[in-house]
Amino acid sequence: MLSSKPKHYSSTHLEVIDDLHREEIDLLNEFMKVLPNSDDEQIEDWIQRLERQVLHHFNEEKACMKRVMCPNFKKHVEAHSETLKAIKEAKKNWEEERDLLQLWNFLEYDYMAWFEHHVRDFDIPAAEFIRRYEEAE
Ligand SMILES: [Fe+2]
Repeated sequence: MLSSKPKHYSSTHLEVIDDLHREEIDLLNEFMKVLPNSDDEQIEDWIQRLERQVLHHFNEEKACMKRVMCPNFKKHVEAHSETLKAIKEAKKNWEEERDLLQLWNFLEYDYMAWFEHHVRDFDIPAAEFIRRYEEAE
């Protein structure tokens, strides 16, 4: 039985980014909850929903960083691109193989590990910069 504990995220102390992260983790939790009892088509819809949410999240973050000319912008955006690639790959694998365990592992471990590391290494420093910039404005 594929059971999954609800996921959490660390605050960046910037509301606009935390809201994006909350939306994404809420969606992921919902997806993980229904995953074992969903049919192939429903799972495909959920993957698409997740992909759209991730794209929205990255685009919004990118716009926030661009506005304040955030340092490390290029590397941060590259990290987003890599993750989008990984999601597309997971989607393709699902479409070709319909391997529930593989998909579950991707979401439960790979994606969540990326999320935690990314927040720590990229989003928290970016949020700090944006906050200081806004305070100085
Ligand atoms: Fe980010």
